[in-house]
Formats: sequence, C-alpha cells, structure tokens
Amino acid sequence: MATDSGDVLTRVENEQADYLEELKDYLRIPSISTDPGYADEVGRCAQFVNEKLAGAGLAAELLDTDRYPLVYAEWLGAEGKPTLLFYGHYDVQPPDPLEEWRNPPFEPTVEGDLLVARGATDDKGQSFAHIKAVAAILAERGELPVNVKFLIEGEEESGGESIETFVRSDGGGKLACDAVVVSDSSMYAPGQPSLLYGLKGLAYMELRVDGPNRDLHSGTFGGAVANPANALAHIVSRLLDSETGKVMIPGFYDAVVELEDWERKAFAQLPHDEKAYCAELGLEQTFGEDGYSTLERAWARPTCDVNGIFGGYQGEGAKTVLPAWAGAKVSMRLVPNQDPETVARLFTEHVQAVAPPGVRVTVKPNHGAAAVLVDAKGPIVEAAMAAQEDVWGKRPVLIREGGSIPIVGTFAEVLSVPILLMGFGLSDDRLHSPNEKFNISHFYNGIRTTVRLLDRAADA
Ligand code: BES
Ligand code: MN
Ligand code: MN
Repeated sequence: MATDSGDVLTRVENEQADYLEELKDYLRIPSISTDPGYADEVGRCAQFVNEKLAGAGLAAELLDTDRYPLVYAEWLGAEGKPTLLFYGHYDVQPPDPLEEWRNPPFEPTVEGDLLVARGATDDKGQSFAHIKAVAAILAERGELPVNVKFLIEGEEESGGESIETFVRSDGGGKLACDAVVVSDSSMYAPGQPSLLYGLKGLAYMELRVDGPNRDLHSGTFGGAVANPANALAHIVSRLLDSETGKVMIPGFYDAVVELEDWERKAFAQLPHDEKAYCAELGLEQTFGEDGYSTLERAWARPTCDVNGIFGGYQGEGAKTVLPAWAGAKVSMRLVPNQDPETVARLFTEHVQAVAPPGVRVTVKPNHGAAAVLVDAKGPIVEAAMAAQEDVWGKRPVLIREGGSIPIVGTFAEVLSVPILLMGFGLSDDRLHSPNEKFNISHFYNGIRTTVRLLDRAADA
C-alpha cells in the first residue's frame, strides 16, 4: 500500500516558497528556441535545468545535439520497482507582441495566485513541478520509491528534430521505462484534474506569392499586372469553406479517423458552457465544422488556419502601391491517421492548382508531427489517476486536446509504454500569448501530485 506521502508533503509545504523563487529564476532565462538570436540563452537554460537535477541528487548530463542540448538525468536505485520517464521542454515561444504584457515577459511577476511570465505554464512551471517533487523526496528520504529518468528538450517550440533523432537512435536503451509522464497541457476546468488521451498532429506550411520585380504604382500598373496580395487572398479563400467550416483541400479528410460513439457521448457529458467560453475569448459566437460540437472541433477534427499573413504597405496612411510579393503561414492540425507529409503534399498541390495566373507561388513545408492517441490503461495509469484524486479531491476526466507535443507520438511508437499526459495548467493560461500565467497553487499541487504518483507507482 502506498504511504500517504505525509513526510514529503510536509516538507513541500515548508519549502514551497523557495521552490517558487527557483522557478522565477528559471523563467528569467529567455530560452526562445524559435529565434536564433537567443541561442546563448537557450544553452544557458539547459545548464540551469541540468544543475537543478544534479542538485536534487540525480546523475544529470547534457547531451549534445545538432541544435540545443537535451538534459538527461536518472536515479535508478529502486531495484525491482518501475521506472518513470519524465519529459518536458525548457524552451519557450517568442513573447511578442511585447506592448501587451503588463510586465516584461522575462521578469516573472506574482499577481495574487498567478505567476505571470513567458514559459510559466508552457512548460517551465509544469515540468519544474516534476523536478521539485523528486528533489523533495530525495531530500526527505535519501531515496526514491521508484526509478526515474528525465529527458528535457530545448526545441519543442521549434520542431524538436534533435529529440526525435535521439529517441529513435536510442531505441528504448537509455530511455527504457514503464511509463512516460508529460505535464505540458491543461486541466479540463479549474479543480477538475484530467488525463489526456489524444493530441493533434501538425503540418505547418509557408506560402509565398511573387509578382513583379518591384513594388509598382497601383494606378499605372493596377489592372494590367497580377497583384500578389490579391492572388494570396484568392488562394487563402480556397482553403476553408466559410459556410460549412470544411477544409477544401481535396483528399484532406481521406485518412481521418472519425470520433467513436463513446467519445462523442463522453465529450457531451463534460460541463461546457458555450457562453462562458465565448465571453472569456471576447467573442459573440464560435465557428467550426458543420455537424460537430465545440469540443469535438477543437480536440478531434482536423483544421486549417492562417497563422500570419503579410505583404504590401502596412504603414500609416495610404500608399498607392501594388506589392511585389505577399506571404502567409498556415497550420493544419491533424488527427489520427492523417500523415503530415501526405497532407503537406495535398496542400501544395491544391495551392498550385488554385493559384491565379501571372504570379509565382512557392510552398514550403515547415515542421510536422503526427497526431497521437494513447492507451490510458494499466496499473501506472491507475496510480496517476489516484494520485490526481488524492491531491485535487476529484477523479480525473479523460479528454483530448488540439495542441501538439511532437515527441509524444515517437515515445509511444519507440518505447511502447503508457504515456501519462497529466497537465496542471488551465485553459486560460494564455500559452503562446501575452501575459502567460501559471496558477501558483497549481504549481504546488503539481509537485504534490507528482510525489503521490511516485509513491503510488511503487506499488503499481
Ligand atoms: N504544450 C504545448 C502543446 C499543448 C498545448 C498541448 C495545450 C495540450 C494543450 C506545446 O508546447 C506546443 O505549443 N506545441 C506546439 C508544437 C509545434 C510548435 C510543433 C503547438 O501545438 O503549436
Ligand atoms: Mn509545451
Ligand atoms: Mn508551446
């Protein structure tokens, strides 16, 4: 029978204010992996994580890669007990638009229960909870109830090629384990713990339309020369049917696995307040694919969205100009069994087919990831659900999510073990947005949940 973890939980209670200070130090490092200008900071952040794991008493090392180092650590002193592999990422998204932050993004600020900073919830705060849980147990007892491994990457927000290469070449050697634990997502609602069993995949595309060799006078040449911005708008209007919400790319839905009946029933039973959902987002109504509910659309139906669109004159006032080029970035969120490369090819063919004459259209795939459904069964999954119930006082609900964590699919494939997608965030955490936050109480409960998980997994 698992102990009640009281010894460690008392220590966590006494030391939690220090843990928060350490998390703030972590958040002060601007580890923006998408911007090469921050390469030194990303490297410094890897060292910070490495030192925290080593300081907790694990054998920690930096594994060099073609880009940013992986932080690997292990403690394997619990003979005959299961091994848990904790995954997280120490890199963050760019903070812009900067002017919308109440405080600078890399100066973590406490506002009541909220810790506001880039990376607070995604994913420094959440994965730091795992580290502090293990540190607290080792400090209290000198040993852990199970074996643990950590693999923390610095490229999750920018494609994650390095970890992909490492996990595949390792093939379950160094990374052999009985379950993977990932806290990089949200709970379904405040006070409602959740276990994710599905993540979407991604095919990210960049689109550029070129016309004349320079910007032209829109009176002198307009009407006689194709306008790249007009052409781009035409192409973009052929991606999504604005009446039915269906993606218009031929073949896009061919491989899509439909929602199962039990899922539709389970989603429908979750409390969802469409009005409150809209109000929180400042919207009058939702929009999406015909025939599906908001949760079904967000969690289990594939999408196609422009992420950025640019070209032509953007300054004050009017400048009568016909732009030489225009561009867009498009993300397609995928569901099982859509293949990111196939979808990227279908997108490219469709864009070329609908492109109007008189312009040159270039389509470049950026990163991709396959969607994943994990098998939420087995004794360690049970231990995780019980640990969540111990701390939050409620049984977790099973949910899916529209976000992607590219390496999760690879873990499932290469390691063939259960993956616990146990998020401590909330859906209003503003990840990737200005004023990202993590509730401090969730940071502490994340530590407690991880402590309970380790104690319970020892008997699983
Ligand atoms: N933690 C998120 C993914 C996520 C968000 C999962 C919310 C579940 C709920 C992750 O850091 C992320 O942002 N992933 C990117 C992946 C991409 C850059 C390859 C994403 O989903 O856009
Ligand atoms: Mn994340
Ligand atoms: Mn993210």
